[in-house]
Amino acid sequence: MDKIVIEGGLPLQGEVQISGAKNAALPILAATLLAPGEHRLDNLPALADIHTCEKLLSNLGARFKEVAVNAGGTNGSLSIDTSDLQGFEAPYELVKTMRAAVLVLGPLVARARQARVSLPGGCAIGARPIDLHLKGLEAMGVKINLSQGYVEADARRLKGAEIYFETSTVTGTENLMMAAALAKGTTVIKNAAMEPEVGDLARFLVAMGAQIEGIDSDILTIHGVPELKPASYRIMSDRIEAGTFLAAAAITKGEVTLLDAPVPHLTAILGKFTEAGVRLSATKDRVTVHAGGNLTGVDIRTHPYPGFPTDMQAQFMAMMSVARGASVITETIFENRFMHVSELLRLGADITVTGNIAVVRGCRQLQGAPVMATDLRASASLVLAGLAAAGTTEILRVYHLDRGYAHLVEKLAALGARIKRVPA
Ligand code: EPZ
Repeated sequence: MDKIVIEGGLPLQGEVQISGAKNAALPILAATLLAPGEHRLDNLPALADIHTCEKLLSNLGARFKEVAVNAGGTNGSLSIDTSDLQGFEAPYELVKTMRAAVLVLGPLVARARQARVSLPGGCAIGARPIDLHLKGLEAMGVKINLSQGYVEADARRLKGAEIYFETSTVTGTENLMMAAALAKGTTVIKNAAMEPEVGDLARFLVAMGAQIEGIDSDILTIHGVPELKPASYRIMSDRIEAGTFLAAAAITKGEVTLLDAPVPHLTAILGKFTEAGVRLSATKDRVTVHAGGNLTGVDIRTHPYPGFPTDMQAQFMAMMSVARGASVITETIFENRFMHVSELLRLGADITVTGNIAVVRGCRQLQGAPVMATDLRASASLVLAGLAAAGTTEILRVYHLDRGYAHLVEKLAALGARIKRVPA
């Protein structure tokens, strides 16, 4: 097991290439099950979760061939042959390591008309039930039985339905959209999630021959078709990785340009960064943080897209811990997403939490210390705090980072950070 060691205090300089989006790549990989044949996916990020997804789909009979890898090894292209579906099970061993494995439920229900998928279980950031996924499938005529920790789905009568989500759910929308693509009749999903990754999946489904109206809106209409064809597709860039690098540049008072950044999907993030005094400029697919900005405390409230993303909350909190003045951070999506607070306190931050509200009083300087990562985005916030802190910060349990950031240490080192990964 490794740890990350950072000597903080250096402004970052240079350009960084943003990788493909984890939260688009995972549902798109699962969607390849819908159409038997050879698919090609480009701009796939080199992440632990992508490897877990490959294992999951190989278990189901998919065959993978690496087609290309980019210079830094952060992105690659895969050909995936799903002609030969073997079985319809997603085992607990894999689902417990990656909740997103539940995204094979929709495609299996549609293609095999049956599925046996392990329930994902609890998560560090919240209970994260999948009741809305199952309720939606039942409305589409699927018989759901929960047994021994597994969802058993019998979908011989899969048909279109009208579904309203009481809570907007990203993977719930994705699972039902995939099931509906091959269902008999039309499905309408109301209060659908509008996250750009949902739109990216919808466009991949359309590339395979699906009929979908209202993409990128909160009302999706899917006209089921008898079959889909394999397709080639380039995964969108990762807006959360982009936001994380913007924070790294701002917290170190550096000058950094993001290449291949999904600028149209960064509006809420760029808005709050500008409000916080970060000097920014952007073109179609590039964003630059200019040196010389003074961080000022601003309030944020996480919200489904197009609001401020919960996946940027921890990183923004790290920035606010060294800003002038105070900021109020309200987490509205997950009930336990302040695990990073106690670790930031170890670095000298001044933060008080009451329920889902954190009050951050900016301090002049953080001090390096050993800290522990608890989940993916919390670990990113500790890396950011370590880059700004005086002295040495050691971050343990960095496997959390590998799940969602492709070569983060190498990318930061290339921007001049004194950061390395060593055996713990
Ligand atoms: C997706 O998770 C992302 N994961 C998460 O990113 C992200 O934080 C989240 O959306 C919100 O944006 C992937 O796309 C793989 P939800 P998901 O269903 O789909 C409740 C990261 O850091 N809910 O939109 O699991 C749920 O408990 C990860 O990359 C139900 O009550 O999130 C939560 O409070 C972390 N019942 C809210 O809805 C359900 O059936 C939103 O969750 C489903 C969800």
